[in-house]
Amino acid sequence: MGWRFFFEENVKINALRRRILKGDKSMAKAAKQEDRKIIRIFDTTLRDGEQAPGNSMNMEEKLRIAKHLHKLNVDVIEAGFPIASEGDFDAVKKIAQTIKGPEIAGLCRSSEKDIDRAWEALKYAGEKGRIHTFIATSDIHMKYKLQMEPAKVLASAVKAVKRAASYTANIEFSCEDAVRTRLPFLAEVVEAVIAAGATTVNIPDTVGYTIPFEYFNIIKYLKDNVPNIDKAIISVHCHNDLGLSVANSIAAIQAGAGQVECTINGIGERAGNCSLEEFVMILKTRKDILPFATNVVTEQLTPASRLLTAITGIAVQPNKSIVGANAFAHEAGIHQHGMLMEKTTYEIMTPESVGLLASALVLGKHSGRHAFKKRLEELGYELNDDKLNRAFDRFKDLADLKKEVFDEDLDAIVSDEAREEDHFKLDHVTVTCGSFAVATATVQMQINGITARTAELGDGPVDSTFKAIKKLTKSKSKLTQYNVGSITGGTDAQGEVTVRVSEGNHSVVGKGSSTDIIVASAKAYIHALNRLNNKQKRLTDAV
Ligand code: KIV
Ligand code: ZN
Repeated sequence: MGWRFFFEENVKINALRRRILKGDKSMAKAAKQEDRKIIRIFDTTLRDGEQAPGNSMNMEEKLRIAKHLHKLNVDVIEAGFPIASEGDFDAVKKIAQTIKGPEIAGLCRSSEKDIDRAWEALKYAGEKGRIHTFIATSDIHMKYKLQMEPAKVLASAVKAVKRAASYTANIEFSCEDAVRTRLPFLAEVVEAVIAAGATTVNIPDTVGYTIPFEYFNIIKYLKDNVPNIDKAIISVHCHNDLGLSVANSIAAIQAGAGQVECTINGIGERAGNCSLEEFVMILKTRKDILPFATNVVTEQLTPASRLLTAITGIAVQPNKSIVGANAFAHEAGIHQHGMLMEKTTYEIMTPESVGLLASALVLGKHSGRHAFKKRLEELGYELNDDKLNRAFDRFKDLADLKKEVFDEDLDAIVSDEAREEDHFKLDHVTVTCGSFAVATATVQMQINGITARTAELGDGPVDSTFKAIKKLTKSKSKLTQYNVGSITGGTDAQGEVTVRVSEGNHSVVGKGSSTDIIVASAKAYIHALNRLNNKQKRLTDAV
Protein backbone atom coordinates (compact mmCIF):
# COMPACT_ATOMS: atom_id res chain seq x y z
CA MET A 1 0.00 0.00 0.00
CA GLY A 2 2.84 2.44 0.87
CA TRP A 3 4.52 1.60 -2.39
CA ARG A 4 1.36 2.41 -4.32
CA PHE A 5 0.93 5.71 -2.50
CA PHE A 6 4.53 6.70 -3.28
CA PHE A 7 4.04 5.81 -6.92
CA GLU A 8 0.80 7.79 -7.17
CA GLU A 9 2.38 10.81 -5.48
CA ASN A 10 5.17 10.77 -8.03
CA VAL A 11 2.72 10.50 -10.90
CA LYS A 12 0.90 13.58 -9.50
CA ILE A 13 4.15 15.52 -9.11
CA ASN A 14 5.26 14.68 -12.63
CA ALA A 15 1.90 15.76 -14.04
CA LEU A 16 2.18 19.02 -12.11
CA ARG A 17 5.69 19.59 -13.39
CA ARG A 18 4.65 18.97 -17.00
CA ARG A 19 1.83 21.49 -16.69
CA ILE A 20 4.14 24.11 -15.14
CA LEU A 21 6.74 23.55 -17.87
CA LYS A 22 4.02 24.00 -20.48
CA GLY A 23 3.34 27.41 -18.95
CA ASP A 24 0.16 26.62 -17.03
CA LYS A 25 0.26 29.62 -14.68
CA SER A 26 -2.73 28.46 -12.63
CA MET A 27 -0.78 25.36 -11.57
CA ALA A 28 2.30 27.39 -10.66
CA LYS A 29 0.07 29.55 -8.51
CA ALA A 30 -1.51 26.52 -6.91
CA ALA A 31 1.96 25.30 -5.97
CA LYS A 32 2.54 28.62 -4.17
CA GLN A 33 -0.43 28.09 -1.90
CA GLU A 34 -0.38 29.77 1.47
CA ASP A 35 -0.94 26.49 3.31
CA ARG A 36 2.58 25.30 2.64
CA LYS A 37 3.52 22.94 5.49
CA ILE A 38 6.29 24.28 7.70
CA ILE A 39 8.94 21.63 8.32
CA ARG A 40 10.65 22.08 11.66
CA ILE A 41 14.44 22.19 11.50
CA PHE A 42 16.19 20.40 14.35
CA ASP A 43 19.88 21.22 14.16
CA THR A 44 22.26 18.68 15.68
CA THR A 45 25.59 20.24 14.63
CA LEU A 46 26.54 20.57 18.29
CA ARG A 47 25.67 16.98 19.17
CA ASP A 48 25.81 14.47 16.29
CA GLY A 49 28.05 16.84 14.33
CA GLU A 50 30.40 17.38 17.21
CA GLN A 51 30.72 13.62 17.79
CA ALA A 52 32.54 13.22 14.46
CA PRO A 53 36.35 13.00 14.44
CA GLY A 54 38.06 16.39 14.40
CA ASN A 55 34.88 18.36 15.09
CA SER A 56 35.10 18.69 18.84
CA MET A 57 34.43 22.19 20.15
CA ASN A 58 34.82 23.85 23.50
CA MET A 59 32.04 25.69 25.30
CA GLU A 60 32.84 29.10 23.87
CA GLU A 61 32.91 27.71 20.35
CA LYS A 62 29.63 25.87 20.87
CA LEU A 63 28.02 29.03 22.14
CA ARG A 64 29.14 30.93 19.05
CA ILE A 65 27.62 28.26 16.82
CA ALA A 66 24.42 28.28 18.89
CA LYS A 67 24.14 32.07 18.50
CA HIS A 68 24.47 31.65 14.78
CA LEU A 69 21.86 28.88 14.71
CA HIS A 70 19.56 31.34 16.43
CA LYS A 71 20.23 33.85 13.63
CA LEU A 72 19.48 31.12 11.11
CA ASN A 73 16.18 30.71 12.95
CA VAL A 74 16.27 26.94 13.32
CA ASP A 75 13.43 25.55 15.44
CA VAL A 76 15.47 23.30 17.72
CA ILE A 77 19.15 23.32 18.67
CA GLU A 78 20.45 20.02 19.98
CA ALA A 79 23.19 21.39 22.19
CA GLY A 80 24.89 18.18 23.35
CA PHE A 81 24.74 14.98 25.36
CA PRO A 82 24.87 16.22 28.97
CA ILE A 83 25.92 12.99 30.66
CA ALA A 84 28.76 12.37 28.17
CA SER A 85 31.20 14.74 29.90
CA GLU A 86 31.41 17.79 32.14
CA GLY A 87 32.22 19.84 29.05
CA ASP A 88 29.07 18.68 27.28
CA PHE A 89 26.98 19.35 30.37
CA ASP A 90 28.37 22.87 30.77
CA ALA A 91 27.82 23.67 27.10
CA VAL A 92 24.18 22.51 27.14
CA LYS A 93 23.58 24.45 30.35
CA LYS A 94 25.21 27.62 29.00
CA ILE A 95 23.26 27.42 25.74
CA ALA A 96 20.00 26.79 27.63
CA GLN A 97 20.75 29.85 29.79
CA THR A 98 21.80 32.13 26.93
CA ILE A 99 19.88 31.35 23.74
CA LYS A 100 16.32 32.55 23.91
CA GLY A 101 14.15 31.65 20.93
CA PRO A 102 14.76 28.15 19.57
CA GLU A 103 14.04 25.09 21.66
CA ILE A 104 17.16 23.59 23.23
CA ALA A 105 17.49 19.81 23.22
CA GLY A 106 19.85 17.56 25.14
CA LEU A 107 20.37 13.90 24.29
CA CYS A 108 20.16 11.13 26.87
CA ARG A 109 19.94 7.36 26.86
CA SER A 110 16.84 5.73 28.32
CA SER A 111 18.14 5.60 31.86
CA GLU A 112 16.98 7.67 34.79
CA LYS A 113 20.49 8.90 35.52
CA ASP A 114 20.92 10.18 31.97
CA ILE A 115 17.53 11.84 31.89
CA ASP A 116 17.98 13.55 35.26
CA ARG A 117 21.38 14.86 34.20
CA ALA A 118 19.99 16.13 30.89
CA TRP A 119 17.23 18.06 32.64
CA GLU A 120 19.68 19.56 35.12
CA ALA A 121 21.33 21.28 32.14
CA LEU A 122 18.17 21.94 30.12
CA LYS A 123 15.95 23.34 32.87
CA TYR A 124 17.34 26.83 32.23
CA ALA A 125 15.49 26.89 28.90
CA GLY A 126 12.15 26.42 30.74
CA GLU A 127 9.44 25.02 28.52
CA LYS A 128 11.78 25.36 25.53
CA GLY A 129 14.04 22.72 27.04
CA ARG A 130 13.60 19.42 25.23
CA ILE A 131 14.61 16.04 26.63
CA HIS A 132 15.66 13.81 23.74
CA THR A 133 15.86 10.24 24.91
CA PHE A 134 16.56 7.14 22.83
CA ILE A 135 17.00 3.40 22.74
CA ALA A 136 17.82 1.05 19.87
CA THR A 137 14.91 -0.98 18.49
CA SER A 138 16.41 -3.08 15.67
CA ASP A 139 16.97 -6.79 16.28
CA ILE A 140 20.69 -6.45 15.59
CA HIS A 141 21.15 -3.62 18.12
CA MET A 142 18.90 -5.21 20.76
CA LYS A 143 20.68 -8.56 20.50
CA TYR A 144 24.33 -7.50 20.25
CA LYS A 145 24.57 -4.01 21.70
CA LEU A 146 21.87 -3.86 24.34
CA GLN A 147 21.55 -7.61 24.96
CA MET A 148 17.94 -7.01 25.83
CA GLU A 149 14.70 -8.69 24.78
CA PRO A 150 12.26 -6.52 22.75
CA ALA A 151 9.73 -6.45 25.61
CA LYS A 152 12.39 -5.03 27.93
CA VAL A 153 13.40 -2.42 25.36
CA LEU A 154 9.77 -1.37 25.00
CA ALA A 155 9.39 -1.12 28.78
CA SER A 156 12.60 0.94 29.06
CA ALA A 157 11.43 3.32 26.36
CA VAL A 158 8.12 3.93 28.11
CA LYS A 159 9.78 4.30 31.51
CA ALA A 160 12.26 6.82 30.08
CA VAL A 161 9.54 8.95 28.53
CA LYS A 162 7.56 8.89 31.79
CA ARG A 163 10.64 9.98 33.69
CA ALA A 164 11.20 12.82 31.19
CA ALA A 165 7.53 13.77 31.51
CA SER A 166 8.07 14.37 35.23
CA TYR A 167 10.24 17.35 34.16
CA THR A 168 8.78 18.67 30.92
CA ALA A 169 6.08 18.17 28.30
CA ASN A 170 8.67 18.74 25.56
CA ILE A 171 9.93 15.20 24.92
CA GLU A 172 11.47 13.63 21.87
CA PHE A 173 11.92 9.89 21.68
CA SER A 174 14.22 8.23 19.11
CA CYS A 175 14.10 4.59 18.03
CA GLU A 176 17.78 4.19 17.22
CA ASP A 177 18.36 2.17 14.03
CA ALA A 178 14.64 2.52 13.20
CA VAL A 179 15.25 1.78 9.54
CA ARG A 180 16.42 -1.78 10.35
CA THR A 181 13.68 -2.32 12.94
CA ARG A 182 10.82 -4.74 12.24
CA LEU A 183 7.93 -2.47 11.29
CA PRO A 184 5.28 -3.95 13.63
CA PHE A 185 7.69 -3.54 16.58
CA LEU A 186 8.60 -0.02 15.48
CA ALA A 187 4.90 0.86 15.38
CA GLU A 188 4.39 -0.69 18.83
CA VAL A 189 7.23 1.35 20.36
CA VAL A 190 6.10 4.57 18.69
CA GLU A 191 2.53 4.13 19.89
CA ALA A 192 3.66 3.34 23.44
CA VAL A 193 6.02 6.30 23.77
CA ILE A 194 3.42 8.71 22.42
CA ALA A 195 0.93 7.34 24.95
CA ALA A 196 3.59 7.90 27.64
CA GLY A 197 4.04 11.56 26.68
CA ALA A 198 6.49 11.88 23.75
CA THR A 199 5.55 14.87 21.61
CA THR A 200 8.09 14.14 18.86
CA VAL A 201 9.00 10.65 17.65
CA ASN A 202 12.21 10.30 15.71
CA ILE A 203 12.73 7.53 13.15
CA PRO A 204 16.47 7.63 12.48
CA ASP A 205 18.40 5.99 9.71
CA THR A 206 21.28 5.56 12.12
CA VAL A 207 23.54 3.70 9.70
CA GLY A 208 22.66 5.58 6.48
CA TYR A 209 21.24 2.43 4.89
CA THR A 210 17.85 3.34 3.50
CA ILE A 211 16.84 4.74 0.11
CA PRO A 212 14.12 7.35 -0.51
CA PHE A 213 11.44 4.95 -1.66
CA GLU A 214 11.91 2.62 1.31
CA TYR A 215 12.08 5.46 3.85
CA PHE A 216 8.92 6.99 2.44
CA ASN A 217 7.18 3.67 3.03
CA ILE A 218 8.42 3.39 6.62
CA ILE A 219 7.02 6.81 7.51
CA LYS A 220 3.82 6.05 5.65
CA TYR A 221 3.52 2.73 7.49
CA LEU A 222 3.70 4.55 10.83
CA LYS A 223 1.11 7.10 9.70
CA ASP A 224 -1.21 4.24 8.75
CA ASN A 225 -0.56 1.86 11.62
CA VAL A 226 0.00 3.90 14.77
CA PRO A 227 -3.42 4.95 16.06
CA ASN A 228 -2.16 7.96 18.10
CA ILE A 229 0.43 9.13 15.54
CA ASP A 230 -1.33 12.49 15.09
CA LYS A 231 -0.54 13.35 18.72
CA ALA A 232 3.18 13.67 17.91
CA ILE A 233 5.41 15.16 15.25
CA ILE A 234 7.34 12.59 13.23
CA SER A 235 11.00 13.51 13.00
CA VAL A 236 13.62 12.04 10.68
CA HIS A 237 17.36 11.82 11.21
CA CYS A 238 19.35 10.50 8.26
CA HIS A 239 23.01 9.58 8.07
CA ASN A 240 24.83 9.91 4.80
CA ASP A 241 26.74 6.65 4.42
CA LEU A 242 25.30 6.07 0.94
CA GLY A 243 25.06 9.78 0.10
CA LEU A 244 21.25 9.72 0.38
CA SER A 245 20.58 11.55 3.64
CA VAL A 246 19.07 14.65 2.02
CA ALA A 247 17.05 12.70 -0.56
CA ASN A 248 15.76 10.42 2.20
CA SER A 249 14.73 13.41 4.31
CA ILE A 250 12.79 14.85 1.37
CA ALA A 251 11.03 11.50 0.82
CA ALA A 252 10.14 11.41 4.53
CA ILE A 253 8.43 14.80 4.53
CA GLN A 254 6.49 13.76 1.45
CA ALA A 255 5.21 10.84 3.51
CA GLY A 256 4.22 13.08 6.43
CA ALA A 257 7.27 13.75 8.62
CA GLY A 258 7.15 17.21 10.18
CA GLN A 259 10.69 17.64 11.52
CA VAL A 260 14.06 17.08 9.88
CA GLU A 261 17.29 16.68 11.86
CA CYS A 262 20.33 18.03 10.12
CA THR A 263 23.70 19.71 10.57
CA ILE A 264 25.62 22.61 9.06
CA ASN A 265 27.92 21.37 6.29
CA GLY A 266 26.38 17.92 6.83
CA ILE A 267 28.91 17.06 9.56
CA GLY A 268 28.23 14.11 11.82
CA GLU A 269 29.11 10.52 12.66
CA ARG A 270 31.02 8.77 9.84
CA ALA A 271 29.80 10.19 6.50
CA GLY A 272 27.75 12.81 8.34
CA ASN A 273 24.11 13.80 8.59
CA CYS A 274 21.57 15.43 6.31
CA SER A 275 23.05 18.78 5.33
CA LEU A 276 20.92 21.65 6.65
CA GLU A 277 21.80 24.02 3.81
CA GLU A 278 20.99 21.45 1.12
CA PHE A 279 17.68 20.41 2.62
CA VAL A 280 16.52 23.98 3.20
CA MET A 281 17.52 25.17 -0.27
CA ILE A 282 15.79 22.23 -1.94
CA LEU A 283 12.51 23.28 -0.34
CA LYS A 284 13.08 26.91 -1.31
CA THR A 285 14.26 26.24 -4.87
CA ARG A 286 11.68 23.55 -5.71
CA LYS A 287 8.73 25.17 -4.02
CA ASP A 288 7.00 24.77 -7.39
CA ILE A 289 6.48 21.08 -6.67
CA LEU A 290 7.22 20.70 -2.97
CA PRO A 291 4.46 22.23 -0.85
CA PHE A 292 6.73 22.80 2.16
CA ALA A 293 8.79 25.59 3.70
CA THR A 294 11.10 26.12 6.67
CA ASN A 295 11.60 29.09 8.99
CA VAL A 296 15.30 29.27 8.14
CA VAL A 297 16.81 32.63 7.13
CA THR A 298 18.68 31.27 4.12
CA GLU A 299 20.94 34.35 3.83
CA GLN A 300 22.64 33.10 7.00
CA LEU A 301 23.61 29.74 5.47
CA THR A 302 27.01 30.70 4.08
CA PRO A 303 28.05 32.62 7.21
CA ALA A 304 27.02 29.57 9.29
CA SER A 305 29.07 27.24 7.13
CA ARG A 306 32.10 29.53 7.29
CA LEU A 307 31.85 29.93 11.03
CA LEU A 308 31.81 26.17 11.52
CA THR A 309 34.81 25.74 9.24
CA ALA A 310 36.69 28.48 11.06
CA ILE A 311 36.01 26.80 14.41
CA THR A 312 36.68 23.17 13.51
CA GLY A 313 39.32 23.76 10.85
CA ILE A 314 37.52 21.30 8.57
CA ALA A 315 36.86 22.85 5.19
CA VAL A 316 33.98 21.77 2.96
CA GLN A 317 34.89 20.28 -0.40
CA PRO A 318 34.95 22.94 -3.16
CA ASN A 319 32.13 21.26 -5.10
CA LYS A 320 29.84 20.88 -2.07
CA SER A 321 26.28 21.97 -2.89
CA ILE A 322 25.22 25.42 -1.64
CA VAL A 323 28.30 26.31 0.44
CA GLY A 324 31.27 24.90 -1.52
CA ALA A 325 33.72 27.44 -2.98
CA ASN A 326 32.66 26.43 -6.51
CA ALA A 327 28.92 26.16 -5.89
CA PHE A 328 28.26 29.42 -7.73
CA ALA A 329 31.39 29.61 -9.90
CA HIS A 330 30.80 29.42 -13.64
CA GLU A 331 34.03 28.49 -15.35
CA ALA A 332 33.15 27.13 -18.80
CA GLY A 333 32.98 29.79 -21.53
CA ILE A 334 29.59 28.63 -22.76
CA HIS A 335 28.18 28.89 -19.24
CA GLN A 336 29.65 32.35 -18.73
CA HIS A 337 28.13 33.50 -21.99
CA GLY A 338 24.72 32.18 -20.95
CA MET A 339 25.04 33.83 -17.53
CA LEU A 340 25.80 37.20 -19.09
CA MET A 341 22.70 36.97 -21.28
CA GLU A 342 20.36 35.67 -18.58
CA LYS A 343 21.45 34.42 -15.14
CA THR A 344 18.76 31.77 -14.86
CA THR A 345 20.24 29.85 -17.81
CA TYR A 346 22.65 28.20 -15.40
CA GLU A 347 21.69 29.52 -11.97
CA ILE A 348 18.78 27.82 -10.17
CA MET A 349 19.18 29.96 -7.02
CA THR A 350 21.04 33.18 -6.42
CA PRO A 351 24.27 33.40 -4.42
CA GLU A 352 22.64 36.24 -2.44
CA SER A 353 19.83 33.90 -1.33
CA VAL A 354 22.37 31.76 0.55
CA GLY A 355 24.27 34.75 1.90
CA LEU A 356 27.17 34.52 -0.51
CA LEU A 357 28.10 38.05 -1.39
CA ALA A 358 30.96 38.64 -3.77
CA SER A 359 34.13 38.68 -1.70
CA ALA A 360 34.29 42.37 -1.09
CA LEU A 361 37.16 44.60 -0.12
CA VAL A 362 35.77 45.15 3.32
CA LEU A 363 38.40 47.06 5.19
CA GLY A 364 41.66 48.80 4.51
CA LYS A 365 44.57 50.02 6.60
CA HIS A 366 42.73 53.21 7.50
CA SER A 367 39.64 51.44 8.82
CA GLY A 368 38.97 52.01 12.48
CA ARG A 369 38.14 49.67 15.34
CA HIS A 370 34.43 50.47 15.10
CA ALA A 371 34.18 49.41 11.43
CA PHE A 372 36.27 46.33 12.20
CA LYS A 373 34.02 45.30 15.09
CA LYS A 374 30.87 45.91 13.04
CA ARG A 375 32.11 43.77 10.15
CA LEU A 376 33.01 40.98 12.56
CA GLU A 377 29.53 41.08 14.01
CA GLU A 378 28.08 40.83 10.50
CA LEU A 379 30.24 37.73 9.99
CA GLY A 380 28.88 36.21 13.19
CA TYR A 381 31.77 36.88 15.57
CA GLU A 382 31.43 38.39 19.01
CA LEU A 383 34.74 38.88 20.78
CA ASN A 384 35.40 40.20 24.25
CA ASP A 385 37.47 43.40 24.49
CA ASP A 386 40.80 41.63 24.93
CA LYS A 387 40.33 39.34 21.97
CA LEU A 388 38.93 42.18 19.88
CA ASN A 389 42.01 44.28 20.61
CA ARG A 390 44.36 41.47 19.66
CA ALA A 391 42.38 40.72 16.49
CA PHE A 392 42.40 44.43 15.60
CA ASP A 393 46.18 44.61 16.02
CA ARG A 394 46.56 41.58 13.76
CA PHE A 395 44.23 43.16 11.22
CA LYS A 396 46.34 46.33 11.20
CA ASP A 397 49.54 44.31 10.70
CA LEU A 398 47.90 42.40 7.89
CA ALA A 399 46.55 45.56 6.24
CA ASP A 400 50.12 46.89 6.23
CA LEU A 401 51.40 43.75 4.51
CA LYS A 402 48.49 43.17 2.16
CA LYS A 403 46.86 45.75 -0.05
CA GLU A 404 43.41 44.27 0.26
CA VAL A 405 41.74 42.62 3.22
CA PHE A 406 38.78 40.32 2.51
CA ASP A 407 36.16 38.62 4.66
CA GLU A 408 38.11 35.37 4.38
CA ASP A 409 41.15 37.11 5.90
CA LEU A 410 39.00 38.31 8.79
CA ASP A 411 37.66 34.78 9.31
CA ALA A 412 41.22 33.53 9.58
CA ILE A 413 42.37 36.26 11.98
CA VAL A 414 39.38 35.97 14.23
CA SER A 415 39.25 32.23 14.39
CA ASP A 416 42.79 32.40 15.80
CA GLU A 417 41.77 34.98 18.40
CA ALA A 418 38.38 33.55 19.32
CA ARG A 419 39.89 30.33 20.58
CA GLU A 420 39.72 29.23 24.17
CA GLU A 421 42.49 30.14 26.56
CA ASP A 422 45.49 28.31 25.18
CA HIS A 423 47.98 26.29 27.16
CA PHE A 424 50.63 26.68 24.43
CA LYS A 425 51.31 29.98 22.68
CA LEU A 426 53.76 30.89 19.96
CA ASP A 427 56.02 33.89 20.61
CA HIS A 428 58.48 33.69 17.69
CA VAL A 429 59.75 31.35 15.05
CA THR A 430 62.88 31.97 12.95
CA VAL A 431 64.10 29.58 10.31
CA THR A 432 67.26 29.32 8.24
CA CYS A 433 66.95 27.12 5.22
CA GLY A 434 67.64 26.93 1.50
CA SER A 435 69.37 24.70 -1.03
CA PHE A 436 72.74 24.85 0.76
CA ALA A 437 71.74 24.85 4.42
CA VAL A 438 70.46 22.36 6.95
CA ALA A 439 67.09 23.77 7.94
CA THR A 440 67.23 25.09 11.49
CA ALA A 441 64.27 26.46 13.40
CA THR A 442 64.44 28.49 16.59
CA VAL A 443 61.10 28.59 18.37
CA GLN A 444 60.08 30.54 21.45
CA MET A 445 56.80 29.66 23.13
CA GLN A 446 54.77 30.22 26.27
CA ILE A 447 54.04 26.92 27.96
CA ASN A 448 51.27 27.64 30.43
CA GLY A 449 52.63 31.17 30.89
CA ILE A 450 56.32 30.19 31.13
CA THR A 451 58.73 31.20 28.37
CA ALA A 452 60.62 28.36 26.71
CA ARG A 453 62.94 28.33 23.71
CA THR A 454 64.75 25.74 21.65
CA ALA A 455 66.36 25.14 18.25
CA GLU A 456 66.10 22.02 16.09
CA LEU A 457 67.48 20.82 12.78
CA GLY A 458 65.12 19.22 10.31
CA ASP A 459 64.36 18.04 6.86
CA GLY A 460 63.18 21.44 5.62
CA PRO A 461 61.74 24.50 7.40
CA VAL A 462 58.40 22.98 8.42
CA ASP A 463 59.97 19.78 9.76
CA SER A 464 62.50 21.68 11.87
CA THR A 465 59.80 24.02 13.21
CA PHE A 466 57.51 21.15 14.15
CA LYS A 467 60.37 19.28 15.81
CA ALA A 468 61.13 22.32 17.96
CA ILE A 469 57.46 22.74 18.93
CA LYS A 470 57.14 19.06 19.74
CA LYS A 471 60.19 19.24 21.98
CA LEU A 472 58.93 22.32 23.83
CA THR A 473 55.43 20.95 24.34
CA LYS A 474 56.67 17.40 25.13
CA SER A 475 53.87 16.15 22.93
CA LYS A 476 53.64 12.44 22.13
CA SER A 477 51.18 13.01 19.32
CA LYS A 478 51.70 12.07 15.68
CA LEU A 479 51.24 14.48 12.81
CA THR A 480 48.94 12.68 10.35
CA GLN A 481 48.04 15.41 7.90
CA TYR A 482 49.53 18.68 6.67
CA ASN A 483 47.88 20.88 4.02
CA VAL A 484 48.71 24.34 2.88
CA GLY A 485 46.55 26.69 0.80
CA SER A 486 46.04 30.37 0.25
CA ILE A 487 43.08 32.25 1.68
CA THR A 488 42.67 34.69 -1.20
CA GLY A 489 44.56 35.21 -4.46
CA GLY A 490 47.88 37.02 -5.08
CA THR A 491 51.43 36.55 -3.82
CA ASP A 492 50.68 38.70 -0.79
CA ALA A 493 47.77 36.43 0.18
CA GLN A 494 47.69 34.84 3.61
CA GLY A 495 48.72 31.21 3.68
CA GLU A 496 46.43 28.90 5.54
CA VAL A 497 47.73 25.68 7.00
CA THR A 498 45.61 22.80 8.29
CA VAL A 499 47.15 19.96 10.25
CA ARG A 500 45.76 16.88 11.93
CA VAL A 501 47.44 15.31 14.94
CA SER A 502 46.52 12.09 16.70
CA GLU A 503 47.28 10.51 20.02
CA GLY A 504 45.63 7.29 21.18
CA ASN A 505 41.99 7.46 20.15
CA HIS A 506 41.99 11.22 19.76
CA SER A 507 42.47 13.05 16.53
CA VAL A 508 42.14 16.82 16.14
CA VAL A 509 42.56 19.42 13.46
CA GLY A 510 44.45 22.69 13.86
CA LYS A 511 44.50 25.73 11.63
CA GLY A 512 46.78 28.71 11.33
CA SER A 513 47.14 31.62 8.97
CA SER A 514 49.76 34.23 8.22
CA THR A 515 51.38 35.89 5.25
CA ASP A 516 54.42 33.76 6.23
CA ILE A 517 53.81 30.10 5.57
CA ILE A 518 56.18 28.88 8.31
CA VAL A 519 54.45 31.05 10.90
CA ALA A 520 51.08 29.74 9.64
CA SER A 521 52.40 26.17 9.97
CA ALA A 522 53.65 26.76 13.52
CA LYS A 523 50.32 28.29 14.52
CA ALA A 524 48.34 25.42 13.01
CA TYR A 525 50.45 22.83 14.81
CA ILE A 526 50.19 24.67 18.13
CA HIS A 527 46.44 25.09 17.64
CA ALA A 528 46.09 21.32 17.16
CA LEU A 529 48.23 20.59 20.23
CA ASN A 530 46.08 22.95 22.32
CA ARG A 531 42.91 21.26 21.11
CA LEU A 532 44.33 17.84 21.86
CA ASN A 533 45.41 19.01 25.30
CA ASN A 534 41.96 20.50 26.01
CA LYS A 535 40.22 17.39 24.78
CA GLN A 536 42.33 15.10 26.95
CA LYS A 537 41.79 17.43 29.90
CA ARG A 538 38.01 17.48 29.39
CA LEU A 539 37.94 13.68 29.31
CA THR A 540 40.10 13.40 32.43
CA ASP A 541 37.86 15.92 34.24
CA ALA A 542 34.82 13.85 33.30
CA VAL A 543 36.14 10.65 34.85
O1 KIV B 1 21.81 8.34 14.45
C1 KIV B 1 21.07 8.19 15.44
O2 KIV B 1 20.30 7.23 15.54
C2 KIV B 1 21.15 9.18 16.49
C3 KIV B 1 20.11 9.08 17.56
C4 KIV B 1 20.68 9.13 18.90
C5 KIV B 1 19.07 10.12 17.32
O3 KIV B 1 21.99 10.05 16.46
ZN1 ZN C 1 22.81 10.26 14.37
